[in-house]
Amino acid sequence: MCAWKLDSDSRQISFSERPLVGIDLVATEPVEGATILQGDIRDKAMQTKIRELCPNRFDLILSDMAPNTTGVHHADTANSADLVSLVLDLCSEWLKPGGSMVAKVFEGSEYQALHKRAKSLFDFAKSVNPEASLSRSREVYLVGQGYRGHDEKKSDKADKLTTPMQKR
Ligand SMILES: C[S@@+](CC[C@H](N)C(=O)[O-])C[C@H]1O[C@@H](n2cnc3c(N)ncnc32)[C@H](O)[C@@H]1O
Repeated sequence: MCAWKLDSDSRQISFSERPLVGIDLVATEPVEGATILQGDIRDKAMQTKIRELCPNRFDLILSDMAPNTTGVHHADTANSADLVSLVLDLCSEWLKPGGSMVAKVFEGSEYQALHKRAKSLFDFAKSVNPEASLSRSREVYLVGQGYRGHDEKKSDKADKLTTPMQKR
């Protein structure tokens, strides 16, 4: 998604610039003006497609992704952390310098490392617990603002490395 604003009367988010791109494993309701892909964000071909849909990079990356829960707390938090770690990786390909990122995480032992990493990538990073989430789960939103951008030389090297996520 490239730009958005929240209408204070209707509480609706409207997007003033295009493209607005979404992805989900499952079929979702259409959203006016948005391109919604059905697929796995871990799939390199999907990542390339999203990059092609917004070659000038996004202003904002929002992730509400959550793994299917197993009931085993540490497995669920680890799977959630893997998704958020991938979102942080993808900032180097998709997010404009100065851009923002919000990602939902199941809070577990992995959370501090994700938060620390977000702090290194953004000028400002914090955790937000929306009131609506508090009673039903231990989910938290990791918010990063002011993406510092990425060093092309370093990211070229990183592209050649296989991330732990991809080894699984
Ligand atoms: C909590 S739901 C949020 C759905 C959406 N925000 C909504 O309000 O309808 C989490 C979503 O993450 C999606 N998801 C989980 N893993 C994914 C992956 N690897 N790639 C793309 N979507 C994924 C699931 O299919 C699920 O629909």
